[in-house]
Amino acid sequence: MELNEVKAIITGAGSGMGRTFAIELARAGAQVVAADINEDGLAETVSAGTGLSGSISAATANVAEEQSVKDLIAGAWETMSGLNVLVNNAGIFRDGMLVKVDRESGKVARTMSLGQWQQVIDVDLTGPFLCTREFAAACIDGGVADAVVINISSVSRHGNPGQGNYSAAKAGLVADTKLWAQELSRYGIRTGAIAPGFVRTPILEGMRPEVLEKMLKAVPLRRAAEPEEIFAGLRFIIECGFFTGRCIDIDGGMSV
Ligand SMILES: NC(=O)c1ccc[n+]([C@@H]2O[C@H](COP(=O)([O-])OP(=O)(O)OC[C@H]3O[C@@H](n4cnc5c(N)ncnc54)[C@H](O)[C@@H]3O)[C@@H](O)[C@H]2O)c1
Repeated sequence: MELNEVKAIITGAGSGMGRTFAIELARAGAQVVAADINEDGLAETVSAGTGLSGSISAATANVAEEQSVKDLIAGAWETMSGLNVLVNNAGIFRDGMLVKVDRESGKVARTMSLGQWQQVIDVDLTGPFLCTREFAAACIDGGVADAVVINISSVSRHGNPGQGNYSAAKAGLVADTKLWAQELSRYGIRTGAIAPGFVRTPILEGMRPEVLEKMLKAVPLRRAAEPEEIFAGLRFIIECGFFTGRCIDIDGGMSV
């Protein structure tokens, strides 16, 4: 698929990587619906897209709520007179150990709460399930011959201590990337996942410099990625018609 033919929904496009994806796609001539719960963030994304050869429109939507996702897909179809790309990028983390033991007493001090678990699963796994289901149904019923779903996973998909909720969601997303390829290829829908390592977005900018420096020592390239470097993977998945069902690791060579 050529980038100037793209009609994309990007979730979580009110910040970070999602905003960069929206801007870079619009720069290449694509039509984009930027979806997020953060309306101020969406306004900034839309404003950053003015003057580009494509277009960015905003849609307030919560990927974890079924009706909100249905409204998002129907509205985006109307705005762009069709759809052919979905980027499941919205994500949150609520880190914590399964059980945290107090060093002095040797007793359990706290545990990961059910709320902490559920919030991350709702946004990072149920969200992509709802969005992909509604997107696929719309593309099939609308007679779209060539479409792509891209899931933003994480290097944490391999199992990162302190991220049991997030790792489970991001690993599940890669499993679904593979099985959706098997279920949806016959309808002209390809899939792909990207598993970034550290990326320079507001998530990292909020960290203390000494903590960030320590974390980046685990990366062979000794730095975080720029969001544009993750966009290079997104672009490849959209453009390469023989790519489906696989995950691209863009993590500077780090292992988890
Ligand atoms: N930044 C990194 O180092 C990194 C590394 C690996 C993977 N990722 C993944 O990349 C994706 C983007 O991360 P980012 O760093 O740009 O994060 P970010 O926090 O800058 O952006 C995430 C966006 O998702 C939105 N969002 C949250 N919950 C939502 C919901 N229920 N419905 C709709 N939108 C919602 C937020 O409002 C925010 O605008 C996430 O899935 C994240 O897990 C990030």
